[in-house]
Amino acid sequence: MVVGNFSPLFDASASLQAQELKSAMEEVLPKRAEYSCRKTKSIAVVSGKGGVGKSNFALNLALLLGDKFDKPTTLLDADIGMANLDVLLGLNARLNLSHVLNGDLKLRDVILPISKRVWFLPGGSGISRLNEVDWEMCPDWIDEISMFDERVDIIIADTGAGISRDVLFFAMASDTIILVTTPEPTALKDAYGLLKSLIVLYGRQTLLEKELLFVVNMARSKQEAFAAADRLMKVSAKFLNIKPRYIGYLPFDIRVADAVKSKCPIVKMHPKSPIVRSMEVIARRILGSSEGDVSETFAKHNLSLGVFQRLFQRLKGV
Ligand SMILES: Nc1ncnc2c1ncn2[C@@H]1O[C@H](COP(=O)(O)OP(=O)(O)O)[C@@H](O)[C@H]1O
Ligand SMILES: [Mg+2]
Repeated sequence: MVVGNFSPLFDASASLQAQELKSAMEEVLPKRAEYSCRKTKSIAVVSGKGGVGKSNFALNLALLLGDKFDKPTTLLDADIGMANLDVLLGLNARLNLSHVLNGDLKLRDVILPISKRVWFLPGGSGISRLNEVDWEMCPDWIDEISMFDERVDIIIADTGAGISRDVLFFAMASDTIILVTTPEPTALKDAYGLLKSLIVLYGRQTLLEKELLFVVNMARSKQEAFAAADRLMKVSAKFLNIKPRYIGYLPFDIRVADAVKSKCPIVKMHPKSPIVRSMEVIARRILGSSEGDVSETFAKHNLSLGVFQRLFQRLKGV
């Protein structure tokens, strides 16, 4: 059973969250072993500048990947301290990642099915930074995390604005980084700044080993998007010696704001709109690039651990 009909009135109570998860986890999603050749891919959605459309992009991408492309997907609200994906979904998920990180609850108590093949891990406002987490309080994390790793193909982490260590950390803990920018010079500058910060903190080589993609959002025309993409690629190549790959643009569409106000994702509200079509193109490119690349990344890093395990090991500093 899927929690939430994207109604703003939905209130996820503690027992409902736990109960829904139990049935959905056990019955709806088959174990990975039942699929062939599946590998989990982790994607961090980042930007530098706030308000460029990361959360809307991450949410709608997760729904498309799950519902249209049949890829079991988990959407993680990794905007530590300022989580708001639950608002975009019209949920009041009062149990969230902060309770897991504080050791009060388990992942299974807070993760919610929001569609047939899409799971949502609400972020928390109870903690402001990852380094406030007391890892000794979560001794069972590894077993629990393995359970989720068996069941999802893709995990998408929607991160916060800025270049805090938390944002950079989620980017580096993932296989794929998707940078979202708009054509505005300020957004492009901050996208570039984020890439530079990743290099300063983790080294250029580590970044080169990631799949580095970017999307231009809120473009008024294809030409405007191309010009912005060209600019970002050129400055990144010239000053950082890296080449993020442009995977498409999303047009400026006032209906995104309407969808936010209605607390109903645009892929549900206007599934045939040009912006959703553009998202499908981008989703296809993400999946297309993953078929070959991901196995290479796995081989390179010997990533036999599941994505949640890797993520949480990194979080814990193991
Ligand atoms: N393609 C778009 N066209 C028009 N408005 C958009 C588009 N994408 C996002 N927005 C608007 O931009 C605002 C910020 O979006 P959000 O996803 O919350 O950004 P972020 O997560 O980067 O802070 C929202 O009010 C949303 O309605
Ligand atoms: Mg956001």
